[in-house]
Formats: sequence, structure tokens, C-alpha cells
Amino acid sequence: MPVNLIPQPLSLDMRPNSFFLDAAVSLIADSDLLELVALLNQHLKQHLGFELQMAPLTTTVTTVTANSNAANRAIQLSLDPALTSKHPEAYTLDISPLKVDLKAASASGLAVGLSSLRQLIMSAEGGKIPCLAISDEPRFGWRGAMLDVSRHFMPKDFVLKFIDLLSLHKLNILHWHLTDDQGWRIEIKRYPKLTEKASMRQATLIGHSRERPRRYDDVPHGGFYSQEEIREVVAYAAARQVTIVPEIDMPGHMQAAISAYPELGNTDMSLNPRCHWGISQHILNPMPETVRFMQHILEEVMDLFPGPFIHVGGDEALKHEWSESRKVQDRMAELGLKSEDELQSWFISQMAETIQARGRRLIGWDEILEGGLSKGATVMSWRGSQGGIEAAKLGHNVVMAPNTHTYFDYYQADPAHEPLAIGSLIDLAKVYHFEPLPEELNEQEKNLILGTQAQLWAEYLPNPAQVEYMAFPRLCALAEVAWCPQGTKDYDVFEMRLREHLKRLDRLAVNYRPL
Ligand code: ACM
Repeated sequence: MPVNLIPQPLSLDMRPNSFFLDAAVSLIADSDLLELVALLNQHLKQHLGFELQMAPLTTTVTTVTANSNAANRAIQLSLDPALTSKHPEAYTLDISPLKVDLKAASASGLAVGLSSLRQLIMSAEGGKIPCLAISDEPRFGWRGAMLDVSRHFMPKDFVLKFIDLLSLHKLNILHWHLTDDQGWRIEIKRYPKLTEKASMRQATLIGHSRERPRRYDDVPHGGFYSQEEIREVVAYAAARQVTIVPEIDMPGHMQAAISAYPELGNTDMSLNPRCHWGISQHILNPMPETVRFMQHILEEVMDLFPGPFIHVGGDEALKHEWSESRKVQDRMAELGLKSEDELQSWFISQMAETIQARGRRLIGWDEILEGGLSKGATVMSWRGSQGGIEAAKLGHNVVMAPNTHTYFDYYQADPAHEPLAIGSLIDLAKVYHFEPLPEELNEQEKNLILGTQAQLWAEYLPNPAQVEYMAFPRLCALAEVAWCPQGTKDYDVFEMRLREHLKRLDRLAVNYRPL
């Protein structure tokens, strides 16, 4: 009986017989793995309706072979340092009639191994899990999705569900796009107007951005996450070994913030959070007070998010206001900068200092290359793979997020039969066939590519149901792109496994697009 795991493990051997999982099974784990034990119990409770009692690690079940009576059956989680030599996230999962034996080199390896076990548990009929031996490890360390909560606010509970779905597919990064022209979504204690004013827009565009005349719904739209809620989300992700990469998009995409704190901008215009899509021309000014303001924000962001990467955006910064402002031109001269692109790079370098002073790493969209890349910066390549190629050739780390294959706000099928989306077409097969390592790079440069992620821009994703519709099943395909070695993927086989896997998504009430 095929087990239809997604992503497909590196090595999987089916064995005869099965393991019977009921409430009498004991759970054996080291005391430092309690968080993962709790996670397994959450899955058991959710899918089978019971939890397992912890047994002391000294319990040995390997000597028991005679019968499969209750107390003799066990699930064991353990760290196996020997696996470290293979891959930091390597795991093995051996299932025999009396034992489910999950071993990994690290907690993150155990977490991805638990995702395999969870998929098996979800498909277990009558509590029977087929015997098998899996030996598995990922192709890339960065396997993620970006969620835009600015264009449409997504409730905290949905963010938790989304993280759980990432983890089910062994995706380990949530890139959380928290700010944009249309709304500021993260509480910053030092600057309360960011949430008091900038988190709420007065109306939202109806229909597509290219339609004229523009029509609006006149319904205020807003929402933000308090710092307490953010801590809850971060902890929930951490329990699943998912790392959150928060994004504060600057110096463009800042209209909402400038509307709350006009001194950050370049004009006397009175602004509001933007009510339609497209790029705002309003950009942060490069004055010392504004730089400090943004650095203060990043300090609070780093207090909340413990992960190594802090995303500072950098995309689509329209620079007319800089060209037209006497003050900005004087500032450029004072700093010895020759172009507005260099000024943007200088601005980003000021953020890099703050981020690196805390031992963290700056990441930005590929425009951060344009006026010179900050030392140590990681580039997220979105305008195709070109920015990523250039950055890798300069010796920088890269995340591949190209709009050719990973923009899940694009249509996934004939627009005539789909809900309104931004445009273009990236179907399931196109995602599946994406190769994150460009041929233009040599082996050393390829090693700089950390991995890949999907983008869920939310202009046309008004609610969680539509996020799920656009995310799934394309995220299942991306999970295989990020996990499976080059040359091992087969679209037809993937589609067969996916048909069965979708039953798991049904059980989790995911509003995926049917095949
Ligand atoms: C982007 O799509 N502006 C990164």
C-alpha cells in the first residue's frame, strides 16, 4: 500500500505488517525533547482523539518480540549524533510491528520526521500504520512561504494554521510581510500611531487594479498583531521548528507609516494608508531622525523575533520624491553619494549595521543590489533569477523567490474559471518543474543558494480561504522542489501521491484548489 508522503522522502522501503497505534502505546523520549513530544501528542489528539503517556527513556522495547500487546508497543523519539554527519536535518523513521523509531541529528530533524509520521497517522486506517524504513534529508535549508498580511489582514488564528500547514509539508520558513502602503500590522511600542492610525485604511479597491474608473467598497479595513500575539505566533512556530522571517519593507512601500508619522516623508501632503494596489510614490526621507526611527523599529522587531534573518524589503522604491527634494539632494551630496540608487543602498546599510550589531543577518529583495550590496546581505531574488545569480557571483547568500515560478498570487489555471487574481499563470506543473539552482552558477556559487519560497501577495487574497486556495496544492509542489534532490522528481507520480494527500488537507479543512 503506497503511503503517499509529500514531500517524497529520499529513501523509503515498505515492509510487511503494520504498527497498531492506540492509546496503550507508550511514548519514549529524552527529557529534553518534551516540546516535540507535546507536538506529537497534539497531532495524535487532533487526528486520533487520544494522547500517549510518556515512559521513562530506560524502558526498552527492543527485547520484546513475542506479542504486540498493549504495553509492548512504543513510539520512541531520540537524537542520534551519528546522523549529524549526513545533514543537520537528517532523520530516520523505522516502523516495525512493535516500534515506531524516529531518530534525528537535531530537534529540527525530529520535527521534519514527525511531519512524515503525522502524515502516516492521518492516513492510518483503523489505527494501523504500515511498517517501513525511511532515511531522509532535505535538499535545501530554506524552504518557505511569504505571507502578505498588509494588503489584507489575516487573523492570528489563521497565521497559526498556516504555520502548521507549512510544517506538515516540511517547510521551515514563514516570511511574514508585516508592513506595506496599505496597512501596518505589527505593534511597535515606541511608535503607537503605527497601529493607531497606519493599521486601518478607509476603503479597499473593488475589482482589478487596472480597471478605470477606480471603485472602492467604503468599508474600513484594518488589523494588527499585538506584541503579545506575535510572541504567541513565534512560540507556536518554534515548537514546529519553523523560523519566522519578519519583513519591515523600506524605504518604499511605507505610505501607511508616513501617514501616521508625516515627518518620515518628503512632502507636506496629508496621507492615509493606501486604498488601492500598485506602488506608492511616497518614500521615507533619508534624514538621521528617520534612519533612527527605522532602527528603533528594527530593535523591537529583533526583540520579538529570535531568528537569524531580518527582512528590510527594499523592493520597488520609487525615487521621484528623492530626486525632487532639495533637502534630499543636499543630504546625498553631504554623504558623497552620486545617485538615488546609492542613497537607497546607503539607507539599507544603516539598517544592516543595526541588524548585524545584534548578530543577525539582513535580507532584502533583489533591488538592494542596485546601488551596491551591503556586506553580508542576503538577496531574495524575485524579478526572475537574475538578481540571485548576480548576488551569488558576488559571494552573497541568496533565496530564490522568482516571479516566474513562485508567485502564488498569479493564476493557477485559466482565468476565465478562476477567482480574480493579479494576472499571469503559474500552474502546479510549472511550480513542480522549478529548479532553484541556475545553470549559470558554478558549484561554489550554487552553495550560496539557501533555498526557495512561495510568495502569497494578498492584494487579491481578501481572506484566509482565498490564501489557502492560492497556496494549495501549489505549496505541495514547492515542498518537493525544496526537499527532493534534483533528478528524482516525477510530475505524474507526484500527482498520484497528491490525490491521496489532498484527503489529509480535507481533514485539516484546507480550502485548496481541487485538481
Ligand atoms: C515584490 O514582488 N515587490 C517583491
